[in-house]
Amino acid sequence: MDSPFLSSWSDVAALREQLGREGRKLVFTNGCFDLLHAGHVRYLQEARDLGDALVIALNTDDSVRALKGPSRPVHALVDRAEVLRALRSVDRVVAFSGERCTEAIQAIQPQVYAKGGDYTLDSLHPEERSALEAGGSEIHLLSLVPGKSTTATLQKLKSPAAKKFRLGVLGSGNGSNLRAIFAALSKRRLVGVEVALVISDQKEARILSRAEDQNVPAVFVDPGPYQTKLGQPAQKEIVDRLKAAEVDLVVLAGFMRLVKEPLLSAFPNQIINIHPSLLPKYKGLAAWKQALDAGESETGCTVHYVDEGMDTGRILAQAKVPIQEGDTPKTLHARIQKVEHVLYPRVIGELAAKSSS
Ligand code: GRF
Repeated sequence: MDSPFLSSWSDVAALREQLGREGRKLVFTNGCFDLLHAGHVRYLQEARDLGDALVIALNTDDSVRALKGPSRPVHALVDRAEVLRALRSVDRVVAFSGERCTEAIQAIQPQVYAKGGDYTLDSLHPEERSALEAGGSEIHLLSLVPGKSTTATLQKLKSPAAKKFRLGVLGSGNGSNLRAIFAALSKRRLVGVEVALVISDQKEARILSRAEDQNVPAVFVDPGPYQTKLGQPAQKEIVDRLKAAEVDLVVLAGFMRLVKEPLLSAFPNQIINIHPSLLPKYKGLAAWKQALDAGESETGCTVHYVDEGMDTGRILAQAKVPIQEGDTPKTLHARIQKVEHVLYPRVIGELAAKSSS
C-alpha cells in the first residue's frame, strides 16, 4: 500500500539496526487503532517512553475485519496511519496483514514490546510471546485508561438504548463505594456502565437509600436466620433478581455475608469484591486493624473475583496505602476507603471495556 505515512518492513529493520548500534531501544507495538481516543494516545506515549523510537504494526483493513467483524475498520489503513503518524510519540507505522505479528517480531527483534493492559502475559498469543522471549525483547503491558476505549466510543455513538454494562451491587452498610461508582458515572470517568440494581441483607442500610436517591431499584432480601451466612432461599432470590435485572457484573460493596451456591455458578467470573487489605494478607473482618496490630508500615485494598473462600479469589488490582505514625483503626480505614473509591470504579470500567471489546 503506497502512502507516505506507511513505512516498509525493511525501513523498520534498518531503524532497529541503527538504534541497536547506538545502544538505543526500538519499542514495538501492534493493533488496529481504528478510532483513536485519549486512551490510545496515552498508551502510545507510555510505550514511546520505554525506549527511543516507537514502531506500530497496524492491522490492514482485511485483518481488522477478520478480528473485529464486518463493520470495522471505520477508517481505512492509510487514514489510520496518517492519524498515528501525527502523534508525537509515533516514529514509524508499518502495515501487517495477519492476525499475529510473530514473523515481524522474529525479523525485527525489537528491544521492547508494548501492549495495552487488556492483555496479560498469559493472554498474549503464545507464538508471539515465545518469539519475543526468544529475541530477548522486554515485554511491557501498559495500563488501560478507564472508560476510554474504542468500544465506549462506539457505544456513545449508538442510540441511547444501546446496551450498557449492567451492575448488580450487593452491600450491607454505608455504601460509600456505591456512592463512588455513581460519582464516576456522573463525571463520565465510567462510561457504558449503569447500576441496574442494589440489594442489601439489611433493611435499613444506607446503601439502599443511596440507590433510591439515584432512582436505581433497591431491594432488601431477607438473609434468613444466620449471622454471617446467607440462607438458601436468600441466595436463590438474589440470583433470580440479578438475572431478571440482566446484570453483567455483581459488585460486592461491603456485603458482609459469604456468597455461595447457586449465586457463584450463576455468575461465573462475574462477581467481584473490594477488600481493605493487600490480599492475601489480612482476610476477613477489620482487615485495616489486623494490619495495624501486626505493625505493618503499609496496607491497602484489593479488588478480586469472588470464589467459595473468604477473600481468596483471583486478584484483579491492588492499591497501597501507607500506615502513618499515630494512625488509629479509624483514620487508617478512612484513608483506605478513599483509595477504594478510586480503585473500584477504575476496575469496573476496565472489566466493562473488556467485556465488549
Ligand atoms: C469497604 O471498606 C470494603 O473494603 C469492605 O467493606 C467496606 C464497605 O464500605 N469490603 P462501604 O459500605 O462501601 O462504605
